[in-house]
Amino acid sequence: MKKAILLGVNIDHSTTLRQARYRNYSRTCGQMVEPDPVAVALAAEQAGADGITVHLREDRRHIQDRDVIRLRETIQTRLNLEMAATPEMVNFALAVKPDSVCLVPERREEVSTEGGLDAASRIEELRDITAKFTAAGIITSLFLDPDQKQIDAAQAIAAPVIEFHTGSYANAYYDTVARSREFRRLCRATEAAANVGITSNAGHGINYVNIAEVVDIPHLHELNIGHSILCRAVLFGIGEAVREMKRRIRAGLTTPPRP
Ligand code: PXP
Repeated sequence: MKKAILLGVNIDHSTTLRQARYRNYSRTCGQMVEPDPVAVALAAEQAGADGITVHLREDRRHIQDRDVIRLRETIQTRLNLEMAATPEMVNFALAVKPDSVCLVPERREEVSTEGGLDAASRIEELRDITAKFTAAGIITSLFLDPDQKQIDAAQAIAAPVIEFHTGSYANAYYDTVARSREFRRLCRATEAAANVGITSNAGHGINYVNIAEVVDIPHLHELNIGHSILCRAVLFGIGEAVREMKRRIRAGLTTPPRP
């Protein structure tokens, strides 16, 4: 029987929603700030998530430093911190001690991480960072495109884990030829990683449709999925949310529910 693939739930976009309303909120005013990413993470864990992933971006557009600290203190599974390989982020991660970090490229203009890290052009620097994390008991994963050059670099860096970028595959999904090419590229990459003892994770653009095929990629340890799960939560939660508000209007209740 094939080994079960773990699910890391990326909750960044729950805080995109919070920041849309409460960006300038001061914690001292006692206002209810929602949604609380800790509540979101705990609900995800109760539903079976094997880990919680957050990306602390340089511009703090969604997840804030305090969110990561609170998640570290509260979640029961594993905390995976996606971050740029910068001195500021490395120091933050060493202080907070997530279970794992995933080093990603970061450009301010992008809406979400668009391509893999070019590890091949930063071997020395990434080897030093990985060594620091390994010494601190933090597992380092590199977010890479499924290319042999990048896998060779991960080996040179001594990274124990690669998260393969599934964005090109997901974008090609409705083009049969391109999709098959991208799928085979991912399969070759995870085989190559396994051959040199590197664990393969995957993420970006995985959804409720392409998951049926993604699970056939060999040697996968964990998938990190965010956007499609948050979208589904909105879709399936909207009915109950509206019913609850209608009930409260009818009942004339004014006390807000605890988040
Ligand atoms: N893995 C990494 C490294 C990411 O940067 C992201 C977000 O772009 C994801 C996984 C999750 O991607 P998605 O939100 O498309 O599921």
